Amino acid sequence: MGFVIAIDGPAASGKGTLARRIAGLYGFHHLDTGLTYRAVARALLENGVALDDEAAAADMARGLDLSGLDRAVLSAHGIGEAASKIAVMPPVRRALVEAQRRFAAREPGAVLDGRDIGTVVCPDADVKLYVTASPEVRARRRHAEMQAAGSTAGYDDVLADLRRRDARDMNRDDSPLRPADDAHLLDTSEMDIEAAFRTARALIEAAR
Ligand code: DC
Repeated sequence: MGFVIAIDGPAASGKGTLARRIAGLYGFHHLDTGLTYRAVARALLENGVALDDEAAAADMARGLDLSGLDRAVLSAHGIGEAASKIAVMPPVRRALVEAQRRFAAREPGAVLDGRDIGTVVCPDADVKLYVTASPEVRARRRHAEMQAAGSTAGYDDVLADLRRRDARDMNRDDSPLRPADDAHLLDTSEMDIEAAFRTARALIEAAR
């Protein structure tokens, strides 16, 4: 088992960017666990399988190859919505958590980001961060990103969408999004990515 860094937080909190940078800094492996839920959702959508078919979703989850996760393809909005629906299914979570734990054991270390890394996937992680920001700040960032990519979606719709996603992720019965008791809280509402990175780095250095 290498050094394990668990990073959790709601959609558009900046946890993914932070996780990638931290992994790059230490030469650790990085897994965006949201992509594993997205890949299962995409496979269902592509094969015309209903999103409430738990048995089919669990089969897809058990057969998932973590090496083939393509961020560009999986980042589509509709796939994110579908992912948050299949993420409530316990057999899907069990299969994906097992694969995520195998990934976390890789040497010399691994950074995993998601919703339940510090609470369920890696409860013994060496460092746990819970990255958050107000819904308005997250919606503003997400909206700017989407505009830069050519989308015409309005800010109000983006905000409403994020709130729906938060509610689904925080209120599900199995592994809801919440900070682990021993997680460091990093509120980036008034921080840019550089400041968030410096703060995270100091916390990790203290644990090493
Ligand atoms: O972070 P993201 O938007 O790529 O995640 C997509 C969905 O996957 C999210 O709405 C909830 C789910 N998810 C999860 O339940 N547990 C994780 N560790 C990561 C993502």
